[in-house]
Amino acid sequence: MSIKVKGFLKDVGGASRVTKLRKEAIENASPVPDPKDHIREVADALHPYAMRFRVTGVRDASPTSKTYRLESLDGHIPVFQSGQYVNFRLRIGESLLTRPYTISSAPYEARGEHPFIEVTIRRNRPYLVPDYFFENVKEGTELDGNMPFGTFYWEPLRDSKNIVALAGGSGITPFCSMAKEIAFGKMADASITILYGSVKSDDIVLKDELEAAEKACPGRVKVVHVLSGDDEWKGEKGFISRELIKKYSGEDPTYMFCGPIAMYNMISGIMDGMGVTCRRFRHDVMNNPADATQIPGYPVGNEKKQYSITVVRGIQEDVIPASGGEPVAVALERAAIPVDTHCRCGECGYCRTKLISGTIFVSPNGDGRRLMDRELGWFHACSAYPTGDLKIKIPIM
Ligand SMILES: Cc1cc2nc3c(=O)[nH]c(=O)nc-3n(C[C@H](O)[C@H](O)[C@H](O)COP(=O)(O)OP(=O)(O)OC[C@H]3O[C@@H](n4cnc5c(N)ncnc54)[C@H](O)[C@@H]3O)c2cc1C
Ligand code: FES
Repeated sequence: MSIKVKGFLKDVGGASRVTKLRKEAIENASPVPDPKDHIREVADALHPYAMRFRVTGVRDASPTSKTYRLESLDGHIPVFQSGQYVNFRLRIGESLLTRPYTISSAPYEARGEHPFIEVTIRRNRPYLVPDYFFENVKEGTELDGNMPFGTFYWEPLRDSKNIVALAGGSGITPFCSMAKEIAFGKMADASITILYGSVKSDDIVLKDELEAAEKACPGRVKVVHVLSGDDEWKGEKGFISRELIKKYSGEDPTYMFCGPIAMYNMISGIMDGMGVTCRRFRHDVMNNPADATQIPGYPVGNEKKQYSITVVRGIQEDVIPASGGEPVAVALERAAIPVDTHCRCGECGYCRTKLISGTIFVSPNGDGRRLMDRELGWFHACSAYPTGDLKIKIPIM
């Protein structure tokens, strides 16, 4: 059967006129490309590919942690939400590496007359990057990085107004930003109760800032320190327990967790026991433990083995050494081959890599690969460990 289309129907919505205008626009267009692409300018301002920061101040945030204040040398700080992080790109010795640090200052502080962000870095034992910061990064130091990243922020369309934050160690940083934004900024009509677990009162990170926010906004910011190893402490003692969580939760809470993986395992068990739904229990990304043998399913013994990785980038091939106890991304970082890591726990996919040959162990903690990627041999270099010699392909950066 054939259908006859009447003339006027062919021009539904004035399509022929649009085509005519389009033709005219093309004919009259300049052969020189417009140097100004306004959409790209806006996109670059919101999500810059690379930024340069200058440290404008360093202060103690506890006996084992320091807060670094940074200004942007690119003229502005992109819009971010409390809970998001900045990703630094560093050269330490021969290594070229990236590390994420949550912004501990509040978004309103990046919009003022002297805009800044702050990161708070903890060094309670020797670490690679915190040692570098503590020893080398001073007022005036310039750093490369970019921001904002991460999805661990309060979203009024999804989360309830009553935030109950459960924090341990340096996991206080996103909640310090939220507490300050609620007290002095514009976080709608949310309130936050922070249950913060530390061992001794000396270990409490950002204590003064938390106190100042609580004092400024007592109805909407509450901080409860829970100390597990301080006999002198007059407040809550022990670990953050089901009883304590219930005591401070109030009506219709959204629980948000940030802290070490051992604490996460404990807290997620409590959440399950309390019947809290996934929607009401949010947690930040988890770094894999430095000791790979602690990852469930890791082939113990592999951490002592040495392998080689052939890295293909375009037409270039490099052969680099790798340890079975370190993720493939660390082998690349040690060899100063640029690899774009952000979350460093397998979730975000920035370090997506193609396995051409060889065998790997993929950490089950936060394995965020798509099903099709798994089937086609893609893996996330930050959370995959070589279990034999490898040949891999990575993008040129
Ligand atoms: C989203 C996010 C936000 C975070 N926010 C904060 C925060 O606000 N404050 C905070 O203190 N921490 C924060 N962290 C943790 C932080 O990113 C670092 O992991 C932490 O400071 C420890 O530093 P490190 O990784 O160098 O530690 P290390 O334990 O010393 O090293 C870890 C890794 O580096 C590898 N490595 C060792 N030597 C080399 C080398 N020469 N070259 C390359 N790699 C090597 C090791 O094999 C190991 O895998 C955050 C982490 C994430 C994922
Ligand atoms: S850095 Fe996020 S998946 Fe590897």
